[in-house]
Amino acid sequence: MMLRFLVFLLVPTISAAIQPGSTLYATNTSTNTNQNWSSPDSTFSLGFLPHPQYPTSFLAAIFYSGGVPIWTPTSAPLDSSASLQFLTTGSLRLVNGSDRTVWDSNTTSRGVSSASIDDFGNLVLSNSTSTVWSSFLNPTDTIVPSQNFTTSMILRSGSYSFQLLSSGNLTLRWNNTIVYHNQGLNSSYNASLTSPILGLQSNGLLSIAEPSLSGPATFAYSNDYAEGSDVLRFLRLDNDGNLRIYSSGRGSGSQTARWAIVEDQCQVFGYCGNMGICSYNDTAPICGCPSLNFEPVDPMDTRKGCKRKVETQDCPGNATMFDLDHTQFLTYPPENNSQVFFVGISACRSNCLVSPTCDASTSLSDGTGLCYLKPPGFMSGYHSPALPSSSYIKVCSPGIPNPLLSGQIGGKSSGLRMHTWVVAIMVIGTIFGLVALEGSLWWWCCRNSPKFGTLTAQYALLEYASGAPVQFTYKDLQRSTKGFKEKLGAGGFGSVYRGVLANKTVVAVKQLEGIEQGEKQFRMEVATISSTHHLNLKISQKDC
Ligand SMILES: *[C@@H]1O[C@H](CO)[C@@H](O)[C@H](O)[C@H]1NC(C)=O
Ligand SMILES: *[C@@H]1O[C@H](CO)[C@@H](O)[C@H](O)[C@H]1NC(C)=O
Ligand SMILES: *[C@@H]1O[C@H](CO)[C@@H](O)[C@H](O)[C@H]1NC(C)=O
Ligand SMILES: *[C@@H]1O[C@H](CO)[C@@H](O)[C@H](O)[C@H]1NC(C)=O
Ligand SMILES: *[C@@H]1O[C@H](CO)[C@@H](O)[C@H](O)[C@H]1NC(C)=O
Ligand SMILES: *[C@@H]1O[C@H](CO)[C@@H](O)[C@H](O)[C@H]1NC(C)=O
Ligand SMILES: *[C@@H]1O[C@H](CO)[C@@H](O)[C@H](O)[C@H]1NC(C)=O
Ligand SMILES: *[C@@H]1O[C@H](CO)[C@@H](O)[C@H](O)[C@H]1NC(C)=O
Ligand SMILES: *[C@@H]1O[C@H](CO)[C@@H](O)[C@H](O)[C@H]1NC(C)=O
Ligand SMILES: *[C@@H]1O[C@H](CO)[C@@H](O)[C@H](O)[C@H]1NC(C)=O
Ligand SMILES: *[C@@H]1O[C@H](CO)[C@@H](O)[C@H](O)[C@H]1NC(C)=O
Ligand SMILES: *[C@@H]1O[C@H](CO)[C@@H](O)[C@H](O)[C@H]1NC(C)=O
Repeated sequence: MMLRFLVFLLVPTISAAIQPGSTLYATNTSTNTNQNWSSPDSTFSLGFLPHPQYPTSFLAAIFYSGGVPIWTPTSAPLDSSASLQFLTTGSLRLVNGSDRTVWDSNTTSRGVSSASIDDFGNLVLSNSTSTVWSSFLNPTDTIVPSQNFTTSMILRSGSYSFQLLSSGNLTLRWNNTIVYHNQGLNSSYNASLTSPILGLQSNGLLSIAEPSLSGPATFAYSNDYAEGSDVLRFLRLDNDGNLRIYSSGRGSGSQTARWAIVEDQCQVFGYCGNMGICSYNDTAPICGCPSLNFEPVDPMDTRKGCKRKVETQDCPGNATMFDLDHTQFLTYPPENNSQVFFVGISACRSNCLVSPTCDASTSLSDGTGLCYLKPPGFMSGYHSPALPSSSYIKVCSPGIPNPLLSGQIGGKSSGLRMHTWVVAIMVIGTIFGLVALEGSLWWWCCRNSPKFGTLTAQYALLEYASGAPVQFTYKDLQRSTKGFKEKLGAGGFGSVYRGVLANKTVVAVKQLEGIEQGEKQFRMEVATISSTHHLNLKISQKDC
């Protein structure tokens, strides 16, 4: 495959020359005719396409046969009188309207005498001896086979950018700062790279070439690897922040995604905008607001994010933390270390509430015990039933749940409720069954025990049922301690005696003293005991 790749490059391609002074228009007028500048075999052309998002607008692009763009100086919509001008000064210029320059190759006075586009899709401006500017060396959001992507290049789409590091890692960034995806070669490639070149082969293999490697190292395969005969594959950074390999059949004008570097789209930072929460419906990632205390910035485009209806500084002393289960505010290094804490879930919530520099917090339940406090600023949220984390966001009380967000947790919602009912009935049924079984077993084995009196029957069932506190009469206690005979010791507020219950369980009986505070003391004692976890405090007698 590599051999064929090189042979292709060695075959000189005859390019259709574009003469200086010529101009392409977005639409025909009485004085010009719309045209495309095409490669010799018309595989690629430079010209205007209808804009995919704005119906009456245009996109200037180098496009594959059928109209799939592979290089666009700008993805912003252009109006119908837009033009591409190859000036006699040697610059290629994109003009919107009649005179507003949107893009310029900046090659004026560099001796450019001709322009051409070859059958690999490369637009070249050259002087009499060599290339001065080419679209392959100035990629926008796409690379095609036979194009070399080096560490000095960058693909951009919206707030997202893609770069190749000198280590050979592929990195995706949001706003040039937050690296939300950083992936290296399979660790079986042991070489330390210095000047890697990323390339997509025409068969769908994404690989990294480097002098220190004997051959190109495979990074990924498209899922239609080596299939189809007249198919263009290309790698594009989409405006949803994912990097994908696409296939397009010649002349079809359609494209199909064949591989995406970020498998889980909701892991793309900022996909749902500031304070937007990404989740999935049955088919696609969708964006919603954390609660009804928020509203979309743009109701027509949920990816633009959310804003508070009332800012928290406008309700001083009345802010609360709204709970978002299975939700995480995405955090990536560089994270300010003063915002990461090793605290439990309630502290993670309350610490944020009292801190004026905290807007939201995420508590991870993945075993790390970490809590992230998020300062006011851009936040990207992710909700999934599989996420082991809880988040809290500061709102003016009361917090109002977003039915849309909880509704999609299940369009499953009704199914979920059904499921809960079934589980509840099963659990209750099982408990009753077990209680009945244990009760009858116990009755069966103990009915003949002479020590077994009416009292024990009363408490034993209760005890078996729930471990709930059991009441004894004074007479019962007197009997079990043989008239408070064997004193074990004296603790706070009273003495402790040894006793034996009818079922032979050995117990300690504490007699509280000081009548006036009796009720209070009693409650304190119970509270102390119930917060103590000790082997011998477990009631576990089965020996009847
Ligand atoms: C523009 O004019 C040319 C030549 O007259 C014609 O072939 C082409 O179809 C026209 N394009 C449009 C979009 O009308
Ligand atoms: C330029 O290419 C586009 C896309 O293939 C096509 O729709 C249009 O008709 C072409 N224009 C001319 C004048 O050939
Ligand atoms: C081109 O002009 C139109 C209206 O004149 C405008 O809506 C559009 O944003 C402009 N495009 C660019 C890339 O400046
Ligand atoms: C050309 O120069 C202008 C002004 O310096 C700059 O804004 C623009 O980005 C340059 N264009 C390219 C394609 O480098
Ligand atoms: C053509 O451009 C190259 C690189 O920009 C430069 O080194 C060379 O001198 C130029 N040749 C002429 C004839 O201008
Ligand atoms: C890509 O790089 C290879 C060497 O790695 C080189 O032979 C080839 O000419 C380059 N292709 C382009 C279009 O620059
Ligand atoms: C993007 O980064 C710039 C500085 O690099 C910063 O000033 C700006 O606030 C950031 N944008 C957002 C939305 O965080
Ligand atoms: C490259 O990516 C791997 C994960 O695939 C990561 O462990 C490593 O730290 C990255 N290296 C650099 C230099 O970013
Ligand atoms: C790395 O590649 C080797 C062979 O190409 C393969 O056996 C191994 O499973 C790969 N490892 C990973 C983590 O993908
Ligand atoms: C990686 O390289 C080190 C030193 O260069 C070598 O000892 C080791 O065997 C290599 N591992 C693999 C899997 O090739
Ligand atoms: C999921 O969301 C996408 C995008 O909003 C929408 O087109 C699709 O119809 C939704 N599917 C279901 C099953 O709700
Ligand atoms: C706080 O909000 C609650 C509920 O909206 C309201 O009843 C209460 O009066 C508010 N308290 C203050 C101090 O604003």
